[in-house]
Amino acid sequence: MKRIIKKIAVITSGGDAPGMNAALRAVARSCAYYKVECIGFYRGYQGMIEGDYVKLTARSVKNIIGKGGTILKSARSDEFRTKEGRKKAYQNLKDLNIDGLILIGGDGTFTGGVIFGKEYKIPFIGIPGTIDNDIAGTNFTIGYDTALNTVVESIDKIRDTASSHNRLFFVEVMGRDAGFIALNAGVGAGAEEILLPEEDLGLDRLLESLKKSKRSGKLSSIVVVSEGDKIGKNVFELAEYVTENLPEYEVRVSVLGHMQRGGSPSCFDRVLASKMGVKAVEHLLDGQSDVMVGLVKDKIIISNVEEAIKSSNDINRELLRISDILSV
Ligand code: F6P
Repeated sequence: MKRIIKKIAVITSGGDAPGMNAALRAVARSCAYYKVECIGFYRGYQGMIEGDYVKLTARSVKNIIGKGGTILKSARSDEFRTKEGRKKAYQNLKDLNIDGLILIGGDGTFTGGVIFGKEYKIPFIGIPGTIDNDIAGTNFTIGYDTALNTVVESIDKIRDTASSHNRLFFVEVMGRDAGFIALNAGVGAGAEEILLPEEDLGLDRLLESLKKSKRSGKLSSIVVVSEGDKIGKNVFELAEYVTENLPEYEVRVSVLGHMQRGGSPSCFDRVLASKMGVKAVEHLLDGQSDVMVGLVKDKIIISNVEEAIKSSNDINRELLRISDILSV
């Protein structure tokens, strides 16, 4: 039976991502449009457990579409992983007469939603927000495009100094176990080598490729290393290994870190967040649950969230080939 939704709650959870505020704005304004009450819990599931929330109205989300981070703040709640924690969260939802949830976040957020939804039968819709782009069911997650642009801009700057000093730079980028940021930003910044979690290219190949670069007359090089790279060495160990084996290279390391998660969202992320926010509210009002919204072939679609977190998007191996050709 379709449940009548009169009041919803929204959270941003897990690693923050640029565009989460644009998604909150879209959710709050769609609720105002459809005359549904909307509240936002602070710090993701933790705020749900503590009953720490704010009323979200059309006006309370003004001027946030271009702001990085999340006005609701975010957290990775350990307490929500426990039955007792989830019980407290449910009690608060009941006391506040919440009929449905919108969960903005990544894998961990959606996993929490699936468990909670099964235990308490509370309808929920996921909006994929993470810079990692590692959620199946969508071609793009909110924040990924902005992070790519941030990384490319940073590598361009590193390239300036690498080139001035004839140096080789290892640049570590985020992405957890996924290489989307490394691969796309690597190609976009013209990196000589890109090391990914999805492909163990091996140390010998790396040395060979760097030797080839030298022979071809390159004076400086950039190797982009995804933080989850499977080559068996972290970025500093890699730099040491190359220094030992190729003394002709002067090597430096740059770990870009959390700056990749900050900054004003790109236009692409703002538009994506706006579309996903509206659709998430509409699907919830329409009686959907346990689904996530996603952008596939330029259309916002929904897919089962449990299926989505069990599968993964594969990297574009053709892009890896293109990178190889272009780093000749
Ligand atoms: O999931 C987003 C992400 O930035 C990953 O790329 C990274 O591995 C992780 O979060 C870092 O998490 P934290 O901010 O908790 O250290």
